[in-house]
Amino acid sequence: MITLALSKGRIFDETLPLLKAAGIEVLDDPEKTRKLILATNQPDVRVVLVRATDVPTYVQYGGADLGITGLDTLIEHGNDGLYQPLDLQIAKCRVSVAVREGFDYAAAVRQGARLRVATKYVAIARDFFAAKGVHVDLIKLYGSMELAPLTGLADAIVDLVSTGNTLKANNLVEVERIMDISSRLVVNQAALKLKREPMRRIIDAFSRALGQS
Ligand code: PRP
Repeated sequence: MITLALSKGRIFDETLPLLKAAGIEVLDDPEKTRKLILATNQPDVRVVLVRATDVPTYVQYGGADLGITGLDTLIEHGNDGLYQPLDLQIAKCRVSVAVREGFDYAAAVRQGARLRVATKYVAIARDFFAAKGVHVDLIKLYGSMELAPLTGLADAIVDLVSTGNTLKANNLVEVERIMDISSRLVVNQAALKLKREPMRRIIDAFSRALGQS
């Protein structure tokens, strides 16, 4: 049995065409069922639905053989025990710094002010500001980051931006682009050895669907 860990929403939706190209069709709609293990048309392939941030953990410890997750999540988790063979070029977005409209970020950085930065992406933010030589106090949040500059909790946020609509709706502006994000296929290294044939079949099919082989 091959187990693929996916999270509901955009990653799941954008993974379906890739699975189809690999001859795999998921038999349940995750938005309609409460099941967490979904069968596919291939008796030896199943999908497990986990939180996006848990995908690397499932794959690392062998709860899933393969998983699909954003580069942001992978960086925050660390790459331990994970083989990352493919950039799937889906769920594209970016990690950026944003501030309240009217906040002079450039001046604050220039003056060497100590910035308070709220984020779910603590590792990415820490590395980015350290490389710039900007002193920051990081405040870890788990969601609704946009609120932080509006309530005075922080001067800036580090968050995912896709269309920019969420920032705009909350009177925030993007002031620095930290990195581009897309979803990656991650693979449990032991599973790749033990189940080499079926694992390679899926990885190769994804890779062909992406036009990379
Ligand atoms: C992300 C991010 C922003 C939003 C940006 O949240 O945290 O809130 O998307 O998208 P936009 O630029 O197209 O408006 P996501 O929907 O991934 O859920 P989250 O709140 O759980 O992070």
